[in-house]
Amino acid sequence: MAGTKKLFIKTYGCQMNVYDSERMAEALGGSGYEEVTTPEEADMILLNTCHIREKAAEKVYSELGRFQGLKAEKPDLKIGVAGCVAQAEGQEIMRRQPIVDLVVGPQSYHRLPEMEAKAGHGEKVLDTEFPEEDKFEKLKARPKARRGPTAFLTVQEGCDKFCAFCVVPYTRGAEVSRPAARILGEAQDLVERGVREITLLGQNVNAYHGAGADGDWSLARLIRELAEIDGLERLRFTTSHPNDMADDLIEAHGTCAKLMPYLHLPVQSGSDRVLKAMNRKHTREDYFRLIERIRAARPDIHISGDFIVGFPGETDEDFEQTMDLVRRVEYGTAFSFKYSARPGTPAAEKGDKMVDPQVASARLTALQDLLNAQQRRLQDAMVGRELGVLFEKPGRRPGQMVGKSDYLHAVHVTAEGLAPGDLRRVKITASHPNSLTGELV
Ligand code: 5AD
Ligand code: SF4
Repeated sequence: MAGTKKLFIKTYGCQMNVYDSERMAEALGGSGYEEVTTPEEADMILLNTCHIREKAAEKVYSELGRFQGLKAEKPDLKIGVAGCVAQAEGQEIMRRQPIVDLVVGPQSYHRLPEMEAKAGHGEKVLDTEFPEEDKFEKLKARPKARRGPTAFLTVQEGCDKFCAFCVVPYTRGAEVSRPAARILGEAQDLVERGVREITLLGQNVNAYHGAGADGDWSLARLIRELAEIDGLERLRFTTSHPNDMADDLIEAHGTCAKLMPYLHLPVQSGSDRVLKAMNRKHTREDYFRLIERIRAARPDIHISGDFIVGFPGETDEDFEQTMDLVRRVEYGTAFSFKYSARPGTPAAEKGDKMVDPQVASARLTALQDLLNAQQRRLQDAMVGRELGVLFEKPGRRPGQMVGKSDYLHAVHVTAEGLAPGDLRRVKITASHPNSLTGELV
């Protein structure tokens, strides 16, 4: 019977996991599951895990430990682990935590209904293969449910860059691009279900090179074609490697009105020595030149980035180079992390050169203070300006709606008759720590 069993999914990590969790919920919808918001009401609990930084696996085990009581009360409760920890740990998860019924890697989500059926018969199921079939095609949404105004759409998976610190090439595998026609079809379907903004996702999204009607398409070509879809108002993409920022993609930022003026372009470090040790295959000067070209195409673009401090061998001087790079680029948003050794990555072998944890923490604080100040400055500069805002949901105050600006700021507006999905011009009146307020123009 449809809709009689209850599914609780907890998602960790990146936006690709958010997308994957939605697809898993839809796939299990076909097996009669509907999503619930607490583990206590669930017949099946799925943890969609992330392995990118330290202690991810430990977090999963402690979370699973908390479900032991639930499983004792409800022996029919099924517990599954998905995502990159599932891929990396495999069988080990079931060995360490016997309450787990199924372990599914990111490439096998389309097999979840079969796996769930087997688990229903008391079997333990594990699938961490990289099968040949197109999982996205098999995961196509069944019910044509109405959607919110924004959606993620995965266009590319995996990574061939092998940055020395990163597990992604091992957990998500080699770079694969989905065929363009499938992406256009999925985008069209999302728009028919109410979506007005799509964020194209990939671990290395700007390396996209999917089969198109006339040979392989670049990400820029895909964006231009998506922009032709009526009712689709905004496009974004994330996350990108500097070396794959092709000329046509830079140009698209200047010419494609639906492509939003925001670019997440991680650099990780501002020191050439560290960049080399990280196997990033570009220098700080390369990055500066690239940012200059992007800003020439779209002067108001907000640049976002990722940074790692305390990479093995990083000196005070190296770190100062990162601070200098940040001062020169000026970031609209940024994410910064303390380096953590990931088993199986080349950098993890460099344990002898580990930076003192206290030094790394102090560097992280200094970097985050600088990045936060920049972020706030750029946000404050929006006061008095008119921005496009796509409204997503009601705010906490009566009559208030919350949306996102072109530059991805959260914007609050109180006005009559505003509805989710409305794209309006808003005059910004105030800037707060994490959001803006404004009024309709
Ligand atoms: N340690 C710290 N940060 C990492 N990241 C990836 N691997 C590691 C690691 N081993 C960060 C990078 C990447 C972001 C998604 O996570 O900055 O861009
Ligand atoms: Fe990891 Fe580097 Fe690939 Fe990004 S580009 S997923 S940091 S290996």
